[in-house]
Amino acid sequence: MEKQELLYEGKAKKIYATDQENILWLEYKDDATAFNGEKKSSIAGKKVLNNEISSLLFEVLHKENIPTHFVERLSNYEQLVKKVSIIPLEVVVRNVIAGSLAKRLGVEEGTKTEQPIVELYYKDDALGDPLITDEHALFLKAAGWDELAYIKFLARRVNEILLPYFLERDITLVDFKLEFGKTEDGTIILADEVSPDTCRFWDVHTNEKLDKDVFRRDLGGLTDAYEEILKRIGGKSHV
Ligand code: C5P
Repeated sequence: MEKQELLYEGKAKKIYATDQENILWLEYKDDATAFNGEKKSSIAGKKVLNNEISSLLFEVLHKENIPTHFVERLSNYEQLVKKVSIIPLEVVVRNVIAGSLAKRLGVEEGTKTEQPIVELYYKDDALGDPLITDEHALFLKAAGWDELAYIKFLARRVNEILLPYFLERDITLVDFKLEFGKTEDGTIILADEVSPDTCRFWDVHTNEKLDKDVFRRDLGGLTDAYEEILKRIGGKSHV
């Protein structure tokens, strides 16, 4: 497989074309951003850890029949993925109240939800990725009605798979964000990444934060936290 021109550069990843029409070359970056890009840093080793963790988690989800864009891990910080057009929605699933929802509802961080809360955010940097309703998503033509239902179904399924998976490893899956894309034939698949950049992970016993909140809230070494996640899911660190 040949890496070709850069198609897109995001906050944490670069995407290149390949000599195969439906396959893209995804490169993780060490850059860390928070608060819609207001806080920025480069953290040596983050790209390797996110690539490892995301590859492992996509494999877990693939085994449980979740359709994903993941094809293979190419190197310490690179993957091949299926080409999709990204649906401009961030789908957040919450098992424990934290972050923006704790603030929005005035509920103490750490409060458990009786059932998972699924939210949609409109992917638009200029608007600051606002929380939207299904009707807003339809109005914005981000997705159709059936597509929205399917995306939310897949997000709940991912939670049903990952919640016990992490619990077995003494990790509370507090919340996470997913992105979906459409292949050329219109099939909706899970895209982007599933990593400590996009999930909140707390140690079951101590509630120690093992995710990007370490960076957002200046709580210590980010790579130490990500290494701990990788270790608990059985991966090998290549940092
Ligand atoms: O900030 P908030 O509490 O809404 O985040 C919920 C979850 O979604 C967290 O796990 C966070 O890491 C993730 N998220 C993300 N990308 C964003 C916003 C939130 O990965 N742009």
